[in-house]
Amino acid sequence: MNETAGPRPQALALTRGDFPSDFTWGCSTSSYQIEGAAHADGKGESIWDRFCATPGRIRDGSSGAVACDHYHRWPQDVQLAHSLGCNAYRFSIAWPRIFATGRGLQPNAKGLDFYSRLVDGLLEQGLQPWATLYHWDLPQALQDDGGWLNRGTVAAFVDYCGAVSHHLGDRVKHWITHNEPWCAAFLGHHWGVHAPGLRSFASALQVCHHLLLSHGLAVPALRAQCSGARVGITLSLHPTSPASSGAADTAAAHRHDGLRNRWFLDPLYGRGYPQDVQALLGQAAPQVAPGDMAAIAAHTDFLGINYYFPERVADAPGQGEMQAQVVEVEGVERTAFGWEVAPEGLVHLLQRVHQDYGPAEIHITENGSTYDDVLLPDGSIHDELRRSYLQRHLAAAHRALLQGVPLKGYFAWSLLDNFEWAEGYARRFGLTHVDFATQQRTLKASGHWYRQFLTGAATAAF
Ligand code: FCB
Repeated sequence: MNETAGPRPQALALTRGDFPSDFTWGCSTSSYQIEGAAHADGKGESIWDRFCATPGRIRDGSSGAVACDHYHRWPQDVQLAHSLGCNAYRFSIAWPRIFATGRGLQPNAKGLDFYSRLVDGLLEQGLQPWATLYHWDLPQALQDDGGWLNRGTVAAFVDYCGAVSHHLGDRVKHWITHNEPWCAAFLGHHWGVHAPGLRSFASALQVCHHLLLSHGLAVPALRAQCSGARVGITLSLHPTSPASSGAADTAAAHRHDGLRNRWFLDPLYGRGYPQDVQALLGQAAPQVAPGDMAAIAAHTDFLGINYYFPERVADAPGQGEMQAQVVEVEGVERTAFGWEVAPEGLVHLLQRVHQDYGPAEIHITENGSTYDDVLLPDGSIHDELRRSYLQRHLAAAHRALLQGVPLKGYFAWSLLDNFEWAEGYARRFGLTHVDFATQQRTLKASGHWYRQFLTGAATAAF
C-alpha cells in the first residue's frame, strides 16, 4: 500500500490510535455463563437450568447455578472491565429474571433492579452498556409450552423486550435482540447438544424462523421505548470455502454457506430465505405467515458478528441436509477446543458481509479462544497463545478497516472464564482467570496485554 496515504500499513505494529477514535472497545459476557444466583430474587427456571440438571448433558456435570457469582460480584467485574481501558461492555439479560414464567403483566422488580444497578455501575465507569436480550436462557415455562417452536413465544419475547427497554432505555442505548440464532436453533433443536436438547431438523428451521421473526418485531418495540436506540442482532458467521478446487466441493461449500450464513443474512437484509437452500428442505421448510419476511427485514443500526473459525466443506452425497460435510484440515493452528485459528478468515468474512449486504455498521461482538491455562504458584497465567490470538485478530480487524469495512467495534470473548455451555467449566475463554472454588479473579497475560493496548502502552506486533 502507498505509505503516504491513510492509516499505517499492516506490517508495522498497531496501536489503539490506529483505530478510529470513536471505535468501541469492550468485552462480552452472557447471563447464564457468569451470573449464578439461579434462584435469587424471584428468578424463574430457564431451559439451561433444566438442561444442566439432566444427567449426561454437561461434560463435567456442572451448571451455571453459581458460575462466576457475578450477580453478587458485579461491582468488581465492572471495575475490572473499566481497568482494562474498555469503553463498552456487552452483557445479556436473563429473561427469567424479568418474567419468571416468560410473560406476565408486571415484570419482576428485583430482576430489573439488578440490571439497573449494573447499568448505572457501567455508566459510572465510562462503559457503554450493550445489552443482549436473548443469549439462550429461555424461561422453562415457555419451553413447556413448545418454546421457540411455538409462535406464541415470539409475542412473549417482544413484550419482554418492551418491558426491559421501558425500564432501562433511558440509559441503555445499544440493544442486541438475539445472540447467534444458528446456535440456539441448531445446537438446541437439531443436534440436541444445547438446551432444550431436541433433535429435529424441521424443528430447528421453525425455531430459526421464530427467532428471526421475534428479532424483527422487537426492533420497533425497542425503538418505541428508548429514544436514540441503536438496535442490531448478533450472528455467528463462518467463512466457508471448498475443501478442494473441484466443482462438487465448490457447490457443496455454497450449500453449506447457505444454511450457516445466508439463511440468516439474506432475510435480515430483505432478500427472504435463499432459494437454493429452500429447494433442498422439502418437508422441513418452516411455516412462514404473510408479512413475516417484511418484519424480519426491519431496518437495524448495526450487525453484530461473532467470529471464531472458518469451515472447509466437501461434497458429501447423502450426508446431512445440505449433502455437505465440514472437513478437518491437517496442519493448521488450533485452540484447545480444536477450533482453527485463522485471523485472515475474519478479514474475508467482514469484506464479504460488507460487499454482499452492506450493513451500515459492523461490530465484532465476540472473538476469543480457549487454551489449557496454567496458574503458576506466583498466581500468574502466561497465556501467550491467547494473547497472540487476540493480537492477530485485532490486526485482522484493522486490515478490514483499511479495506473500507465499516467496522465500528470489537468485544473480546470473554471478560471472565465462565460456564461454557455443554463443556462446563473445562473450557476457559477469559482474559481473566476465575478460581471457581474461591471466586478469585486474576488477570491473565492476555488481559494485561489488552489493557496495555487499550491504554496505549502496547502494540499489536505480530
Ligand atoms: C459463542 C457463544 C458464547 C461462548 C462462545 C465461546 O458461540 O455466543 O456464549 O460460548 O461461543
